[in-house]
Amino acid sequence: MKNEFDRSELLRRVTEARAKDGNERVRTITKRVVADLFKTIEEFEVKPVEFWAAMQWLSRLGASGQIGLITAGLGFDRLLDILEDEADARAGLAAGTPRAIEGPLYVPGAPQSEYEARLDNGKMPGSVYVMEGTVRDIEGNPLPGAVVDVWHANEKGAYSHFDPSQEPYNLRRRIVTDAQGRYRFRSVLPPGYAIPPDSPTSELFDLLGRHGNRPAHIHFLVSAGGKRALTTQVNIPGDTYIDDDFAFATRDGLVVTLEEVPAQGGYESLGIDFAFTRIRFDFKLQPAAGEQDALHLGRYERAVAPSAA
Ligand code: DHB
Ligand code: FE
Repeated sequence: MKNEFDRSELLRRVTEARAKDGNERVRTITKRVVADLFKTIEEFEVKPVEFWAAMQWLSRLGASGQIGLITAGLGFDRLLDILEDEADARAGLAAGTPRAIEGPLYVPGAPQSEYEARLDNGKMPGSVYVMEGTVRDIEGNPLPGAVVDVWHANEKGAYSHFDPSQEPYNLRRRIVTDAQGRYRFRSVLPPGYAIPPDSPTSELFDLLGRHGNRPAHIHFLVSAGGKRALTTQVNIPGDTYIDDDFAFATRDGLVVTLEEVPAQGGYESLGIDFAFTRIRFDFKLQPAAGEQDALHLGRYERAVAPSAA
């Protein structure tokens, strides 16, 4: 009867089988996750038809490239930020611009320019805005040569690269701050974002009775030598979903003010000789704890796979 066993013996065998060292942390976490899922299946009497429908959904989710949408919608992205914030508070590193989730739609390598840039291609309808400010350290000193990587959605709430109808790097730029640590860019105010309809993500949200909307926002990855790279977002005020973001990413300190300003000199190089909307925002960066901390990297570029011993 060596191969006949009950479910607790099965769990023991699954989680303790070992032919070589592997990686201890991966073993420990996998053991916990498998045990919790076994328990969930038992407790809720999950039937084979339900289990295999869920696996089919996971396969479709992976194939659709939407795993990052589900992690955000189920709160994992914000959870990781909350845990980092707590660690910062314990270490006395809580000053500076708050972090906010990267989201699944960052693309490295956007076109780079000095001091200023125009993000849109002139075809996006909506209100022209200029966002401008200074990148500083937490003492308030300006940081020349900092890189402000910015990305946002088009008028349909879609992001270039993921939306094949847009040109590469539309609404994505990297701007290097000038000798005074200043940056500025011109674009068109984006609307909110909604998860794609008829997708694995929307299937789950429908079943959960949840909406998949994010309030209008602009993403940033900001880095400077010796400073901790900052991933954040600002929100545009007045959006219906500002306090009801499906990705739980809005932060009270990151809702900007829109200033309606008249036509004026000083913006010719951005092609603006008319009234526009202005957003002023300074980024404040923490000192970096190490070299890794300062690197200008998105989350998938930064991710480190565990190695087997
Ligand atoms: C998602 C989309 C975003 O634009 C964002 O900033 C965060 C999350 C998403 O679809 O999960
Ligand atoms: Fe986004």
